[in-house]
Amino acid sequence: MNKAEFIAAAGFAISLLFHVIQTEVCPPSCNCKPLEETKGLQIDCSSRKLKEVPALPINTKRLYLQNNSLTTVSPGAFDSLLSLEEIKIFDNPWNCDCHILYLKLWMEDLSESSLANIRCATPAAVRMKPLKQLTGNELGICKRLLPIKSLEFFWRDLVLIAAATVTVILLGWVLKFSKKLVCQIKLSQYVSRRSLLQRHISKSYKLQ
Ligand SMILES: *[C@@H]1O[C@H](CO)[C@@H](O)[C@H](O)[C@H]1NC(C)=O
Repeated sequence: MNKAEFIAAAGFAISLLFHVIQTEVCPPSCNCKPLEETKGLQIDCSSRKLKEVPALPINTKRLYLQNNSLTTVSPGAFDSLLSLEEIKIFDNPWNCDCHILYLKLWMEDLSESSLANIRCATPAAVRMKPLKQLTGNELGICKRLLPIKSLEFFWRDLVLIAAATVTVILLGWVLKFSKKLVCQIKLSQYVSRRSLLQRHISKSYKLQ
């Protein structure tokens, strides 16, 4: 085995190990149980005062997160759980601002019935309302994100407007300058022609 082969083999072994760890490890403080009939896991993290969704094995089939202190789910947190069939996440103090949209859309895809019993705790305007019923307006725009975004647009627009104004001024100036130039050329042509004519006339007078 040469050096390159060894490195490749070691890399493969390490990635395999990570894969196994990621797929098999039960989140600390949760109760995991393999489901016999299928090759999935039942993960019970309910009633554990969790503030965040723990890292989950990808073969999670049933996930119980009810009665915790979860306020939000970070976007994409459940995307790797392709074999998930059941989820319980009610009885959490969900903060239903725009960041909850990922959870709402994801639950709509997975299970309408589980979505039905998720209620918001904050903000005050939507307290105790089912997440399912919230409209885009109620979820609100992410206020923290908006000013940065709109400020970016403002500066971009300002630069564009300034560039357009400068172009118009330059164009006007070039036009004016070229007109002046044309006038000057015409005038000088006229003057030279007239002097030629005068000379011609005076010449013919002298001849007479
Ligand atoms: C919810 O969790 C708390 C501990 O965090 C526990 O004392 C309580 O019994 C649980 N309630 C239900 C309905 O499971």
